[in-house]
Amino acid sequence: MPEATTSDRMEKIVSLCKRRGFIFQSSEIYGGINGFWDYGPLGAELKRNVKALWWRDMVHMRDDVVGLEATIIMHPQIWKASGHVDTFADMMRECPLTKKRVRTDQVEPLSGTAFSYVGSISKQSFDTGGLLWTKLLENESEDVRRSSLLELAAQILNPKKPLNEEEQKSTAEQKVAEIKGIQLNPLQALSLLQVIQILRAGSSSDPFTILIPAGKPPESARKAALEFYQQRGIAEPIVFGEQFNKLENSTDFHPESRVRLSEARPFNLMFKTYVGASEPAEVAYLRPETAQAIFAQFKNVLETSRHKVPFGIAQMGKAFRNEVTPRNFTFRSREFEQMELEYFIKPDEAVEAIAGRVTAAAELVTRHSSLVTSSWGWEAWHKYWVEERIRFYESIGLPRTTLEEYWQKPEELAHYARATVDLLFKFPFGTQELEGIAARSDFDLSQHERFSGKPMGVFDEELRAAWGTLDETKKKELWQRYYDARLNYLTKTGVEQAKAEKEAKEDADGLARGQYIPHVIEPSAGVDRLILALICHAYSEDQAPDEKGKMEARVVMRFHPRVAPIKVAVFPLLKNKPDLVKKAQEVRDLLRPHMTVFYDDTGAIGRRYRRQDEAGTPFGITIDFDTLGEKPELKETVTLRDRDTMQQVRVQIGELLPLLLEKVR
Ligand code: GAP
Repeated sequence: MPEATTSDRMEKIVSLCKRRGFIFQSSEIYGGINGFWDYGPLGAELKRNVKALWWRDMVHMRDDVVGLEATIIMHPQIWKASGHVDTFADMMRECPLTKKRVRTDQVEPLSGTAFSYVGSISKQSFDTGGLLWTKLLENESEDVRRSSLLELAAQILNPKKPLNEEEQKSTAEQKVAEIKGIQLNPLQALSLLQVIQILRAGSSSDPFTILIPAGKPPESARKAALEFYQQRGIAEPIVFGEQFNKLENSTDFHPESRVRLSEARPFNLMFKTYVGASEPAEVAYLRPETAQAIFAQFKNVLETSRHKVPFGIAQMGKAFRNEVTPRNFTFRSREFEQMELEYFIKPDEAVEAIAGRVTAAAELVTRHSSLVTSSWGWEAWHKYWVEERIRFYESIGLPRTTLEEYWQKPEELAHYARATVDLLFKFPFGTQELEGIAARSDFDLSQHERFSGKPMGVFDEELRAAWGTLDETKKKELWQRYYDARLNYLTKTGVEQAKAEKEAKEDADGLARGQYIPHVIEPSAGVDRLILALICHAYSEDQAPDEKGKMEARVVMRFHPRVAPIKVAVFPLLKNKPDLVKKAQEVRDLLRPHMTVFYDDTGAIGRRYRRQDEAGTPFGITIDFDTLGEKPELKETVTLRDRDTMQQVRVQIGELLPLLLEKVR
């Protein structure tokens, strides 16, 4: 079978997700809502499995991590302290007429001039144009631009009569060939097509924004474009590029419609809401990350769980970001789930005072190379957590070879971060971030201490005792290092110099008495991105024999049994044989309390296998006449089929449960 191109592959994956009930567009019956997705029956199971496995790995299997389940709406000061109110923003430019916003970094290759058409234009073409307008600005890959062109071309060529999908595709392919013939670059072609579309549209007075690519298009393209219009009976040809100012004189455009995008302004990505009925109502935010609740509850958890640093608090749940350009299926959504761990550690100065040294990250060959963690500073813990997270992904079926570690460059780091590693996955649309593992210093707890006025530090008896045994030179050196770090934090966050020096001195004196604000290592993963990665990795096409032994194409989702939505399917060979059905139901009921089981008695057995292959069910059990004792030596045995190899073995019913449990847990 020829290799599918990356966009074909993604298209097939999206279509399978809908067809088999993994992922649906949210509010689809109302035309959908951009950036929101629902999980269907199979997707819901997959998601539950992934979250349960993460929780098991991060919380239940460890002595040093506990969980938290906090609210989505929290005190708005939390987002002031975290920096989200002031800095969690994309820089945007706005079209003054349509109020559409464009990310500044995406306007750069364009002229930044917006023309607004305020003439007659149908709602439908406005929507299509609007959609494409957004796409135009996204700096998308060649593939995506091409498919945008396909959509648009199909609309332009036949605006009145809807075409079926096949017709649309072939007309559009023709159209693309035509466009290619006139050698427009994709951006120019797209602008051109938008203009044509507007000229040919129906009625409505919605304003419409077109961004014109900067630069002069090649003469050949201009000539071809003129011909293109003329052939289509457009009397006054409108061209692009340097001739676009003709638009201003055209009767179709209001002279004042030539506008410039606004200057770049920050556009905060948090969703705002209002709490209470009183006027003015209090503004609150839907949390853009789960992490902040962990910091805000740090003291409560510390005191009630009686843990000592180092220890972690894990949380998973919904997060919301009003992403400007949600895209790539669920990859960048506006509502999504995160799984975050905040792992609190001692500052390096405390580690050195207690252990006499700080283990260098290079000393840790693997996470097992040193289980004595008392001398681990932030670098060792950071390295440990990167390795732990990769190990987790391997355990759920994403081999190390599908992941990449990206160590952020110093200039890319957030000002408070000491190091951040992005774990990237090779999605069909590009290698992109799955999880970030950041060493965030003591920034978060320090911020909450300053904003809430409540102490966030801990008292460490071990440190206090160790400090007393240090010689004066060492004390001075550690004191100074801690002082410098605190002063750096305080001045960077805008505390006035004299005040910052005073506070830094108090903090360094506190260290000598066994007090400090813990530092944190944060592995932060997106559930939805992980689900998408698992789906992309699982999707495969091969050949399998049909009923008559003839090879046919098979789509198979090769999920690791641990994450597979359905673990085992149970099939009675025939549904009209009560004894077979009874036995099959017995097997189903035996397994059901321990794993997800799907019972299917409809259609030929080959078809039933195929359906489960597409759902990613790793095991299929068939109850046949031998199970009932037709061959006495095979009585009480079933066939167990492996999804990936398609091989079948006979297994005693009594052995099924332990055998399967071993594989799916
Ligand atoms: N507390 C740190 C934090 O939130 P982030 O890199 O902004 O860091 C962490 O987000 C993870 O959350 C990302 O690696 C990604 O998996 C997921 N994520 C972030 N924005 C997302 C979005 N718009 N849609 C889906 N997942 C997203």
